[in-house]
Amino acid sequence: MNDDALGLLLKFLRFPSISAQSAHAGDLRHCAGWLGTLLQSCGLHAEVHPTAGHPIVVARTPPDPAKRTILFYGHYDVQPPDPLELWETPPFEPAVRDGRIYARGASDNKGQILAHILGVRDTLAETGTTPVNVIFLIEGEEEVGSENLAPFLLAHRDELACDVICISDNGMVADFHPTLSYAMRGIAALEGVVRGPAVDLHSGVYGGAVMNPATAAARLVASLHDADGRVLIPGFYDDVQPLADWERAAAAANPITDADLLAQTGAPALFGEAGYSAVERIGARPTAEVNGLGGGYQGEGSKTVLPAQAFFKLTFRLVPAMDPAKILAAAEAHLRAHCPPGVTLELTPGHAGAPYFSDPTSPDGLAAQRALERVFGAPAALYREGGSIPILTAFREILGASALLPALASPDCAAHSPNENFPLGNFEAGIALNRALLEEFARVPPDFHGYRGDVPDFTRAARTA
Ligand code: BES
Ligand code: ZN
Repeated sequence: MNDDALGLLLKFLRFPSISAQSAHAGDLRHCAGWLGTLLQSCGLHAEVHPTAGHPIVVARTPPDPAKRTILFYGHYDVQPPDPLELWETPPFEPAVRDGRIYARGASDNKGQILAHILGVRDTLAETGTTPVNVIFLIEGEEEVGSENLAPFLLAHRDELACDVICISDNGMVADFHPTLSYAMRGIAALEGVVRGPAVDLHSGVYGGAVMNPATAAARLVASLHDADGRVLIPGFYDDVQPLADWERAAAAANPITDADLLAQTGAPALFGEAGYSAVERIGARPTAEVNGLGGGYQGEGSKTVLPAQAFFKLTFRLVPAMDPAKILAAAEAHLRAHCPPGVTLELTPGHAGAPYFSDPTSPDGLAAQRALERVFGAPAALYREGGSIPILTAFREILGASALLPALASPDCAAHSPNENFPLGNFEAGIALNRALLEEFARVPPDFHGYRGDVPDFTRAARTA
């Protein structure tokens, strides 16, 4: 990799573009402006569009109607870096150690989107053109729900028209192992507040005579699963599609082992629904996760208090063909039915995104597999991601294009965690991958637009590249 590529990565990573914190709005604006200038200097026409939230950067090569059009999507916003004391070097002072660059956003998603930009720059510099039309769409609100992106797609659907969308905002199944993610789980968030007495009470004076909200919250949370982790909400699994044989084979061939997952998570043992491997549980099965649970005294020592209220924060991860609205309604009904007497329960639904599935054996899917194999020297693992990129369904509905996700981040990239990092070898491979993708997407017949409907075709055996 040349010094200039590393220098640009260092500059990009120095912007504290934390979308969740309003104090950083200026940093997001500067970061978007910097990206626009960079894209322009690479030979693309770039525009930075203000939104009600953080700006959206769009850049394109000169459109040639004879060529197919590929849209690369990514985000320049990052998660908050806390807890700061666990970082070995400060999150916005990127540092290279042992061939990896450490900084917040390194692998989610600045390293990858910059690799794609530099890949296009190299192709343009060497050949004066690109084998397909390229559009970059880089937003600043992915980590906070992409609220302003769908309206932007609607308002700009003509200029964003494309044949396929390519995203590297996902992880490889093993270090430097070529990976094509063809599915992402959906998500639906739900928050509950349980209220009991008007104020915190003396638990000796009143305990036993009024319901304790913390106990009620714990009972509600406990009502969600059986002892094996299967979700007990009635109807929860109704729309879940069984895995096709080729998907079970792809999951079995996946190099992720239980030992890897134990090492990555630090958990003493794996746990989950019977009848599925860990890889299948992560990508192909839905979950109900407790993201937060609290109430009552949290300080040092003991305090004999009966808390006035308690809360829980849940997210459900969804797989095709579950509907977030239906799941939220079923969850609300279940929680209300299990709420003990003597307290009130306030439920507030949060962000939601549908599960996503694209065909890894479509002409574009096969092109992405070929590009990965060319760069990494081995056939790509076909993977169902456990994480979520809720905007994918909006891309399909508004732009009518499917998204393919060739991964570049390593499994131990620590996204959203302290010491997030991106191996420089992956950065370099990403630049090469972009060039291979442009060439392979150009080989797909011009009339193929990559959209085969919302419902995955589970019956067809996977073809390989
Ligand atoms: N890059 C991730 C999505 C992702 C997560 C891909 C894990 C592969 C593995 C993205 O930035 C993200 O964190 N998404 C959130 C979505 C949520 C905030 C709506 C997620 O999955 O929790
Ligand atoms: Zn993220």
